[in-house]
Amino acid sequence: MSEKRWQDVLFSQGFGTRRVCLGLIQQGLVTHNGEDVEDPDAWVETDDLFFTVQGERWPYHDHAYLMLHKPAGTECSQKASLYPSIYTLLPSPLRQRGGGAAAGVQAVGRLDQDTTGLLILSDDGKFIHRLTSPKHHVPKVYEVTTKHPLDASQIERLVAGVVLDDDPKPVAAHAAVQTGTHTLTLTLTQGKYHQVKRMLAAVSNRVEGLHRSQIGSLTLADLPEGAWRWLTPDEVKQVSAKT
Ligand code: URA
Repeated sequence: MSEKRWQDVLFSQGFGTRRVCLGLIQQGLVTHNGEDVEDPDAWVETDDLFFTVQGERWPYHDHAYLMLHKPAGTECSQKASLYPSIYTLLPSPLRQRGGGAAAGVQAVGRLDQDTTGLLILSDDGKFIHRLTSPKHHVPKVYEVTTKHPLDASQIERLVAGVVLDDDPKPVAAHAAVQTGTHTLTLTLTQGKYHQVKRMLAAVSNRVEGLHRSQIGSLTLADLPEGAWRWLTPDEVKQVSAKT
């Protein structure tokens, strides 16, 4: 059980500066169980709390854990240069929560501008650190379309290990399954820069299309491109479990 004052609830969930949050309450724009929240200093139980701000319903979360279906032509950096940032796909409270310099949720690892698929975002530093640590071997599944037809020897080499340009130690796919003349499903347990593209280049092929379909047991299911959703507590536990 934990409690917070209403103005701290709004501030922690990213509804703006403390002044803005106070203003939202004073203007009658925040409701709880169908009633206006009147006292910004009143305490409220935050477990399983839902409230509305300007007519939109929000759940309270100590930390945010989300999945996003990244569309092609978006960048994972906060300040995108050539393409729109993925962060523009999120409502502003998710980009502001926590306040301060490192406010908002951050992508856990990045996908290239032209890659589509599953991204996890969070504002929990420990969770992000755990998932991006080289010691964390949660499998990530990629659906790859190649420029040239695939052959059995390329698939074998991807699993046996290929040398990338920045490291003499070979990197191997956890699994590689050919699904068509130009398509394969590749499962990786590391997350090196441009890893799929560089691995395919190392076997004399080229990636034409790349989609991340799975991280651990998490899949996008029917989440449309460009959409996001909260992860359930079980999903958070599963994806961050030691492997
Ligand atoms: N490997 C790549 O080459 N690109 C991605 O976006 C992800 C993995």
